[in-house]
Amino acid sequence: MTEHTHDRLLIIDFGSQVTQLIARRLRELNVYCEIHPYNAVDDAFLKKFAPKAVIFSGGPSSVFAAGAPMPPEKIFELGVPILGICYGQQVMMHCLGGHVERGQGTAEFGRAFVAPTGKPLDLLEGWFITDREQVWMSHGDHVSKIAPGFEVYGTSPNAPFAITGDASRHFYAVQFHPEVHHTPNGARLYENFVRLAGFKGDWTMRAYRDEAIASIREQVGDQKVICGLSGGVDSSVAAVLIHEAIGDQLTCVFVDHGLLRKGEAEEVVTMFRDHYNMPLIHADEQELFLGELDGVSDPETKRKIIGRLFIDVFQKHAKDVGDATFLAQGTLYPDVIESVSFSGGPSVTIKSHHNVGGLPEKMGLKLVEPLRELFKDEVRELGRELGLPPSFIGRHPFPGPGLAIRCPGEITREKLAILREADAVYIDQIRRHNLYDEIWQAFVAILPVRTVGVMGDGRTYDFACALRAVTSVDGMTADYYPFSHDFLGETATRIINEVPGINRVTYDITSKPPGTIEWE
Ligand code: XMP
Repeated sequence: MTEHTHDRLLIIDFGSQVTQLIARRLRELNVYCEIHPYNAVDDAFLKKFAPKAVIFSGGPSSVFAAGAPMPPEKIFELGVPILGICYGQQVMMHCLGGHVERGQGTAEFGRAFVAPTGKPLDLLEGWFITDREQVWMSHGDHVSKIAPGFEVYGTSPNAPFAITGDASRHFYAVQFHPEVHHTPNGARLYENFVRLAGFKGDWTMRAYRDEAIASIREQVGDQKVICGLSGGVDSSVAAVLIHEAIGDQLTCVFVDHGLLRKGEAEEVVTMFRDHYNMPLIHADEQELFLGELDGVSDPETKRKIIGRLFIDVFQKHAKDVGDATFLAQGTLYPDVIESVSFSGGPSVTIKSHHNVGGLPEKMGLKLVEPLRELFKDEVRELGRELGLPPSFIGRHPFPGPGLAIRCPGEITREKLAILREADAVYIDQIRRHNLYDEIWQAFVAILPVRTVGVMGDGRTYDFACALRAVTSVDGMTADYYPFSHDFLGETATRIINEVPGINRVTYDITSKPPGTIEWE
């Protein structure tokens, strides 16, 4: 989309777990970068991409291994600055005439301290605040001889070549990971690197927004676009952006499957139809979904039914739009980064069983994906830039199958009604205590069990529910949120007093793994 309107930095991925963090650090510096797996970067690619600088990521391999991942040789002839990190350093030394040794007793994992050798280096400007700088190491092999032209600028007890560089060619190679949190001053290295590479730092959200709008207009022309709007951050930001670009050529379809939270449908419809004046089809299909889910208790069957119906309903309503040629999706950058898989199999990702995937082919639609270059927090920033209210931008994620997967066992209208009320009280509690933004996701699950209680002088026999609240970065792993006992007690009391049908409240303290965030 932004092809060549900004200087571009190429990150060659050798399979490190933290490659995405390099991109994050660079984006924070307003530098446009893309991650590409080493085996997708050949000479033709380099010519087209035209990087102004290159970073080699870390990776789990050994340069000695047969078929060890290598960059294309031409990379060193581009005349652009290159920074190698960990495995990236070893690759650089290996390719340029240095030597790498297998780690035997010299492996280093975790915190280490690097001391300067005293020679100045542009990359290190302002970096050594004290006479030793904390860094994060994670390597088995190590460099034993640096390549001709390189010098040593920093050492650690187990890494005599912790920081190396050939200042004349602007090639730099470090043994540690400057992108991780545990290298506290790491951002400075990236800042120096992009400065000396001549980046202007012009990758701002304002610029992105303007370019994205121009690019959507160019892509779509005078054709029509439909967009599945869920009310989540991604689809909302995508819709508002596309609406700014092409106005009423966009129609949103909001499918109400009867599994939404209290007040959710009204909120989304009011916001987009009334506030943004967007053509919006409110597909009230509660009867259809709840009818087909009647009596179904197996989680996978539930998901499959919902996924299938969603596609049918979307297709049905899309027909009302007439001749749409494009489908808009809120695909994000982490979804499109092709990850380097050394196991040979596809990398395991938690993917929604329910989204509009499969629709474009089925309906013969082309895709508009204006967020595919952005990380989640950048999408939020773009949302702010577009004037979306903070309450929308900061919303916790909500799964496509909605309350169905928070209602283990059979779904009934009675249970859904109780669940909606309990969830509303719980979220209200979290907001009242100013905890909403600290928590990644919070919700109530209604359990398929009734328990005996006593209220007033009477016996009750009502449902039990579980509260869930987790902290997470991306939903792949999560930990339970450590509410105070006071908070939990107060919340349980409120739910039991305010929600008829519930007489017992539990708190789920399972992390992920081994649990999942949702109950089904
Ligand atoms: P789990 O339960 O797998 O959830 O730990 C991880 C994150 O994904 C969300 N989730 C979904 N989102 N469609 C979605 O759009 C789905 O089918 C789906 N299943 C789980 C879940 O809410 C959590 O944020």
